[in-house]
Amino acid sequence: MSTTAAEVGRATPTGAITAADLEKDRSFKGTIGDITSPNARMVCRDVNVYYGDKQAIKRVSLDIGKNEVVSMIGPSGCGKSTFLRCLNRMNDTIPGCRVTGLIALDGVDVYDKKLDVVPLRAQVGMVFQKPNPFPKSIYENVAYGPRIHGLTNNKTELDELVETSLRKAGLWEEVKDRLDQPGTGLSGGQQQRLCIARTIAVSPEVILMDEPCSALDPIATAKIEELIDELRENYSIAIVTHSMQQAARVSQRTAYFHLGDLVEVGETDQIFTNPQHKLTEDYITGRFG
Ligand SMILES: Nc1ncnc2c1ncn2[C@@H]1O[C@H](COP(=O)(O)OP(=O)(O)OP(=O)(O)O)[C@@H](O)[C@H]1O
Ligand SMILES: [Mg+2]
Repeated sequence: MSTTAAEVGRATPTGAITAADLEKDRSFKGTIGDITSPNARMVCRDVNVYYGDKQAIKRVSLDIGKNEVVSMIGPSGCGKSTFLRCLNRMNDTIPGCRVTGLIALDGVDVYDKKLDVVPLRAQVGMVFQKPNPFPKSIYENVAYGPRIHGLTNNKTELDELVETSLRKAGLWEEVKDRLDQPGTGLSGGQQQRLCIARTIAVSPEVILMDEPCSALDPIATAKIEELIDELRENYSIAIVTHSMQQAARVSQRTAYFHLGDLVEVGETDQIFTNPQHKLTEDYITGRFG
């Protein structure tokens, strides 16, 4: 048996999970639930991701729709970050990583060899686990993207875009008097909202978030969660989270991953109250994860 429990998931505090349990549970026969979205913005079909010989994502198909938040949950190492990174080709930067299958944004194949990844990463923006503002002023953190993408014609327009982005990220009132100060001098929660403002400033269609609150306290987390709900009006959002409460609070659909498989996807309420697959049920009832 090649898979160890340590590779596929964190043991419960009781240490109840073993590799043998997981092998026994491995009755996966294909994703349960409706992988489609009526207003699909991103369409993923039969996506496989390999790191060298190791397959980290197995034939995953999923849509991400307009005005929806899709949360991705599952045990550590199941491939959530890997899948999220495929959506804007962040995996391109990882040596030995190979992606097959179809990923399209508004009908355009994002893996088309002729496609320029710079605008793609503006259209499909990403917010990371650890806030990572540039070592620049608050203003410059937000202005940088619009400048390199040539989104504004003059300083007045750029000022307006910086303000609008900071407002949408719920940060303007807290920083408007110190825009010239370093972004790294803000609190963790403010830095994460600054990173969200930076993502919004380049007019994305989709925002990917990989555990965006895991480094934040509960108050900062609540603010980001409120923000995610507001952002849904204008963007499609895919969020990876280890917090099932967070998935339940912010998302309309939830996707459960296990060992590289998308086991089940459905309305968030249904996934948490009436999961159809035993693996999903085991995870949400805390048997492992
Ligand atoms: N750069 C890499 N090179 C080789 N293998 C990798 C790389 N990144 C991830 N993997 C492997 O791919 C699998 C999926 O990893 P991934 O980081 O996507 O999981 P995850 O679900 O995001 O986990 P976590 O909840 O811990 O963040 C794991 O087995 C991991 O070891
Ligand atoms: Mg991850």
